[in-house]
Amino acid sequence: MARVGPFFAPGIKIFPAPFIAQLYITISVIFVTISAKLARLRNLLAERAPWRYVIAMTANFPAIRLRRSRSSAWSRALHAENRLTPADLIWPLFVTEGSNVEEPIASLPGVSRWSIDRIVSRAKEAHGLGIPCVALFPNTPHKLRTADGREALNPDNLMCRAIRAIKDAVPEIGVLTDVALDPYTAHGHDGIIDDAGYVLNDQTMAMLTEQALIQAEAGADIVAPSDMMDGRVGAIRATLENGNHINVQIMAYAAKYASAFYGPFRDAVGSRGLLKGDKKTYQMDPANAEEAMREVALDLAEGADSVMVKPGLPYLDIIRRVKERFEVPVFAYQVSGEYAMIEAAAAAGAGDRDALVLETLMSFKRAGCTGVLTYHAAHAARLLG
Ligand code: PBG
Repeated sequence: MARVGPFFAPGIKIFPAPFIAQLYITISVIFVTISAKLARLRNLLAERAPWRYVIAMTANFPAIRLRRSRSSAWSRALHAENRLTPADLIWPLFVTEGSNVEEPIASLPGVSRWSIDRIVSRAKEAHGLGIPCVALFPNTPHKLRTADGREALNPDNLMCRAIRAIKDAVPEIGVLTDVALDPYTAHGHDGIIDDAGYVLNDQTMAMLTEQALIQAEAGADIVAPSDMMDGRVGAIRATLENGNHINVQIMAYAAKYASAFYGPFRDAVGSRGLLKGDKKTYQMDPANAEEAMREVALDLAEGADSVMVKPGLPYLDIIRRVKERFEVPVFAYQVSGEYAMIEAAAAAGAGDRDALVLETLMSFKRAGCTGVLTYHAAHAARLLG
């Protein structure tokens, strides 16, 4: 009988069939041994860059070619993970006194302040373009600006008249209003200050609740506190509920940073020259992200319907973190300095304006935004057709 074993032993008589079996077993053993040695070698190499990548890629290529789905326009359209539409946009508009007035803002090329009659035309234009909401900011006449910003509580102020005019003419469009005192104070701060120039939280909050209420009474659909006082969302919510404005929403400027990108806005509302000092005791430090999570958590707990991150592009990481953590509607404010930067880049020939506008707006959708406040809203809506 032939020996059964892995090795061929010469001298022993072997019949053909067992011989083949023996050979087969022997070759198998050699093959398995070599494979194991190769696998060990491969693992060894795989631990070291750049071999790791070469081995990983060659394992899938050419079966996987990501360029296949990018190779034609129809396929790119089919595979797009995010979409930007005019319905994603909120258009901030600056209101000024007078009639048939348009005042271009030098630091915001292409953006103007409009008198109420002309603002109504902008609201109609927005509606026609499929933009669902406009945001209003008043350029209060300087003679009405005081230390306490009391013009903010005048139910017949520029803001309230603009709200009523828009809601009368274009009732289908949403009107978002800014809740903060900076367009009404003689010192340009968002609240009431003490002798040292410190913005007083609780006294300011009392004014903001009244301000939100008169805006709601004038017809505002969303009130958006941009002041960063602690506790103001809860106080505003309670005031709106008591006033039977149960469906007036609050979009909280939850993570608003003390940013260098607000300059042109302050020109637009006429507060840049007035502002004493900075806003660092109430707006957030650009170094902080964890703190933004706390701000958002508090505003949601106090009754915010949606939250905003501001500015936009330099804070895409915050947008993403807020969206992932809270799973609530998040809006970005692509602020005045960001707008001006894109315009300046385009004017300098650094990039195509339309492409820059659409790419930056898409980045907000990709980061997780429900919508974006942008001065490019009408232009972008036209591009999106
Ligand atoms: C003020 C307010 C600011 C903006 C919106 N509301 C400026 C600021 O905080 O000083 C900035 C918007 C922009 O720059 O486009 N409450």
